[in-house]
Amino acid sequence: MQSRFDKIIDRRNSGCYKYDALSMIYGKSDLIPLWVADMDFAVSDAILDALSERLEHPVFGYNFRLNDFSEAIVSWEQRRFNWNIHKDWIISVPGLVPALSLFVLAFTEPGEGVLIQTPVYRPFYDAVIDHNRKLITSALINNNGVYSIDWDDFENKLKQAKLFILCSPHNPVGRVWTEEELCKIGSLCAKYKVIVFSDEIHADIVYPGYKHIPFASLADFSNFCLTGVSPSKSFNIAGLATAVVIISNSVIRDKFMVMNTKLHLYLGNSFGIKALIAAYNDSENWLEELLCYLNGNREYISNFVQNELPGVLLSPIEGTFLAWLDFRNWGLPEPKLQEMIIKKAGLALEPGSEFGDKDEGFMRLNFGCPRSILELALSKIKLLAEDL
Ligand SMILES: Cc1ncc(COP(=O)(O)O)c(C=O)c1O
Repeated sequence: MQSRFDKIIDRRNSGCYKYDALSMIYGKSDLIPLWVADMDFAVSDAILDALSERLEHPVFGYNFRLNDFSEAIVSWEQRRFNWNIHKDWIISVPGLVPALSLFVLAFTEPGEGVLIQTPVYRPFYDAVIDHNRKLITSALINNNGVYSIDWDDFENKLKQAKLFILCSPHNPVGRVWTEEELCKIGSLCAKYKVIVFSDEIHADIVYPGYKHIPFASLADFSNFCLTGVSPSKSFNIAGLATAVVIISNSVIRDKFMVMNTKLHLYLGNSFGIKALIAAYNDSENWLEELLCYLNGNREYISNFVQNELPGVLLSPIEGTFLAWLDFRNWGLPEPKLQEMIIKKAGLALEPGSEFGDKDEGFMRLNFGCPRSILELALSKIKLLAEDL
């Protein structure tokens, strides 16, 4: 049966980074772009309707969020994650990447340590390095593609850190942290008095058998945790620049808010505000359909890699629409692997080095696209394998 997500939408020349920046980043524009983490799907009708309705009002001045904005977030966290938050805990930001910088700026001085778990989304590194703070990394253990925390190392690194940025679910390795893991992280951070930013942008995209648990909903972790939440990944509205940070501890919240106000980042985007409300209040069925479709893509990749690409290892995808592929058996340094993927296969994937990976042989593939595109892309990787 056809799904609405099977539809191929031409995004070229719409001013989108994923397609229109291909030449700039990859040196070629005729590639299948499976890199930047947005999806090639149309948004829900509810979001489109809300945006059209907003367009009917012809003034686009500075925004003030009415109660419906925070109520939509409170209700979403309650319904989807059984997490009871108060509307006063919500602070608006233009995105979670800027929120990472705000976090680092608000709670550290230059030279102080911030811990991240690697490999991880590049802006986690940037938020620390760009502000001259000390980057502390704890590498996840990779056991045949299955990633876990090196607890001894994590604890040792926490001793030198003031802050920790958690990626939950984790981009790029696809882990959805278990309650046990989150509790252990939390009790160690409490022990060493480390403040946590839990980036939960991928929270809505979790597959059967796995459960996202907001870090701040456990034990007393909300006392020292800021949680980044956004509909931008799950409802495909990243271009509308709208996210929030949820902070229950009023001292931490005030400090974060001062930095947000100083940088004038709180006013928001007229369309993003409307889209967030329509996403959380009226697009839940659309999201369920999306999750089924993405799960189909996920199963397709898993089967394909297992049966058709024997030299390639895929990490189990517990959450996100991102597949983390290990090509190290091909024995190629990353630049060579990347060149083959671009020039011979005609694909744009995100190389492992973008996530700080030193092993040179990993690629991240974004499968938030119609199945037919995914099939074509994987068949091109298979041809590469046959040509080795
Ligand atoms: C873990 C993580 N955080 C943040 C972002 C981007 O956040 P924003 O667009 O809200 O700045 C991404 C996008 O891929 C991500 O994977």
